[in-house]
Amino acid sequence: MVTISNGAKKIYGEAAFEVLAKAQELERQGKNILHFEIGEPDMETPENIANAGIKAIKDKKTHYTPSIGILELRKAVQDEVEYTRGYRPDLDQIVITPGLKPGIFFSMLATINPGDEVIYQDPGYPTYGSVTSFLGAKGVLVPLLEENEFRMNPDDIKSKITGKTKLIIINSPQNPTGSVITESELNEIAEIAEKNDFFIVSDEIYSKMTYETDHHTATLRDEGKIRSILLDGFSKYYAMTGWRLGYMVAPPDITNRLNDFLVSAISCTAAFTQWAGLEALTGDQSFIPEMMKRFKEKRDKIVKGLNTIPGFSCLPPKGAFYAFPNIKETGMNSEECADHLLQNAGVACLPGTAFGPYGEGYLRFSYATTLENIDEAIERIKKSFE
Ligand SMILES: Cc1ncc(COP(=O)(O)O)c(C=O)c1O
Repeated sequence: MVTISNGAKKIYGEAAFEVLAKAQELERQGKNILHFEIGEPDMETPENIANAGIKAIKDKKTHYTPSIGILELRKAVQDEVEYTRGYRPDLDQIVITPGLKPGIFFSMLATINPGDEVIYQDPGYPTYGSVTSFLGAKGVLVPLLEENEFRMNPDDIKSKITGKTKLIIINSPQNPTGSVITESELNEIAEIAEKNDFFIVSDEIYSKMTYETDHHTATLRDEGKIRSILLDGFSKYYAMTGWRLGYMVAPPDITNRLNDFLVSAISCTAAFTQWAGLEALTGDQSFIPEMMKRFKEKRDKIVKGLNTIPGFSCLPPKGAFYAFPNIKETGMNSEECADHLLQNAGVACLPGTAFGPYGEGYLRFSYATTLENIDEAIERIKKSFE
């Protein structure tokens, strides 16, 4: 009998898409659903970026490119990292990928052996656990606690290190809690990785999406030259989720191997997407502060609203566009509560447990929607508990 691979049995998906499917089924039945489940900005890709992509197609930029990306974009990433992270990576450290997610996959493929241990935040982005499991490695969870504003505590990390620890994955600003790790905590984590000789993968997809605080990176300590891999991308802060574009800054011995991973898996990132990305990085940047001003208004509204619902309490997130309210006092668990809101309030959100066991007692609301929808959702949720 033919059987599928062990890895195929162990890889898993994302609850956001399952909830979206359920919500769409209810919509087909004529129910009005307010969507707070999917993590993508509600703005369109800025005109100048879209036009650069269209121009690239018209200019016949529709062929294979080098697997690691076009030189023009890799140089722009070099400038970008220098400007935003405070160090200038060498060109041979920079690789362009179709979205940030392949960067997670490829950097884990390049560093992890079966039996290795991978430390990551819980609740956290499901891909880290899925790829860890696919590779036959062991996921070691660092709980994100509300009393620590959902930030990883470096002492917790120390207590999880064994001889098998190979990698820590850091995500800040964080999905699903919106927490932002401080500069000194990141320095401490980078020091721990250095002392105990393991890799760092730093998922910084929300790097330009902070409120009242700055973004920092744990990759600064070795400037991505020895053990750290910086991942960032265009999906969120340039509203380009469907274009599929991201970048990695990694030690040269890893980027050498990544070239062959990319050759074997994807050949290259779509050519016209890369030219659009060049415009994103080098063109007018006013879109981002404008979007963040709007997101801040939405954040303030949803946090205030959620805190008026009996049984709910919500800390103001410092980054990304997710609110992560505590719902323990409703007496329901996360799954029950999310389901209750979908069925009885027509509000689609995710149970905290979609992001790991420590998400129990919480919900995730993606507030990339209109202010009116936020008001309406809060009203409907309140009514559903009456
Ligand atoms: C933490 C995190 N990393 C990566 C991604 C995926 O990014 P991309 O769409 O560029 O692959 C997301 C998207 O939700 C995310 O929240």
